[in-house]
Amino acid sequence: MSARIVLLPGDGVGPEVVAEAERCLAATGLPLECVTAPIGGAALEAGLPALPDATRRLCLSADAVLLGAVGGPAWPAGAAEAGLLQLRQALAVYANLRPIRAGAADLLIVRELTGGLYFGQPRWRTDDEAVDTLRDTRREIERLLHVGFNAARGRRRLVTSVDKANVLETSRLWRATADAVAAGYPDVVCQHALVDSFAMALMQRPEAFDVVVTENMFGDILSDEAAVLAGSIGLLPSASLGDGPGLFEPVHGSAPDIAGRGLANPCGAILSAAMLLRHALRAPEAAAAMEDAVAQTLAAGTATRDLAPAGGTAASTQEVGREVAARIRTIREEGNRR
Ligand code: NAD
Ligand code: IPM
Ligand code: MN
Repeated sequence: MSARIVLLPGDGVGPEVVAEAERCLAATGLPLECVTAPIGGAALEAGLPALPDATRRLCLSADAVLLGAVGGPAWPAGAAEAGLLQLRQALAVYANLRPIRAGAADLLIVRELTGGLYFGQPRWRTDDEAVDTLRDTRREIERLLHVGFNAARGRRRLVTSVDKANVLETSRLWRATADAVAAGYPDVVCQHALVDSFAMALMQRPEAFDVVVTENMFGDILSDEAAVLAGSIGLLPSASLGDGPGLFEPVHGSAPDIAGRGLANPCGAILSAAMLLRHALRAPEAAAAMEDAVAQTLAAGTATRDLAPAGGTAASTQEVGREVAARIRTIREEGNRR
């Protein structure tokens, strides 16, 4: 039986990087049925809401969803992005896993994705005043922490819980909940860090951290910062998981400054497809083949402009995608011969 995957290319570089991820999914030879649907600015352009009902329904009944990016200067602030936020809420994907590997550093940011400042009510704005609400519940914090502690058990068994407990009540609840949950994982070390100094420590000694669990907006900001360690935000994948279909999305946005020119790095989208294979389709061998193919491609010096050495030649989005796909096929053939 083939797995049903919904592709949501979205805006800017989204369609370019999702096309390469689709090419690489096809190269795995797994039975996959991919359907494409509109979201974000692309949906608005077609006279639809940012998350059309048909797209929502398709995603809810799929095995997994792969998204490119939404947003850009063509639409009012937040109008296209609302499609993605609504989709995360509809799928109830509360845990966003953002792995970062670079040199000695090997981090997993576990970002709360369906609560916090992004979804708290009330929120309103007049010409002179505006309100957003940071609201967290013990239940929401707990389930996110369990994802982090369980992930740590398959890694170096260190959880760093990042908050702003010296100022925010929500962070004090977060910290108390982290201590309570940590008591159930005596084999995992739990430490707390304040978000401002953690942002500095992340750059100074990234190898000192393993799993990082944190609130929605802190996680958004820290993961873009961590992209500097990897060398480009175009490399970073993510998996957004809940109890239903997972949403797999590169960490980067629609990159309007480079869109439509074959300059975008497709590796973040391809590695998000690998996370889809591992987490949604339980196909760890195909996922590893895809990850190895990306690593081999970059090691061979085939890279987009964001990674190419100054003065060196850069490959296009498609050239990188084609080489990764070819290497996936080679890895499969070698596996078959063994
Ligand atoms: P961005 O991530 O789109 O771009 C930041 C910088 O990184 C730019 O210089 C861009 O060229 C570069 N970059 C991004 N992706 C790249 C890739 N694959 N390869 C090479 N370089 C890449 O962030 P931004 O400019 O702040 O946001 C642009 C739009 O994207 C906004 O509308 C924002 O809301 C939206 N956005 C969407 C998502 C998402 O859909 N998940 C994530 C972040 C931002
Ligand atoms: C991300 C993006 C989104 C977020 C935006 C586009 C809503 O920045 O996935 O990191 O803030 O979550
Ligand atoms: Mn972000």
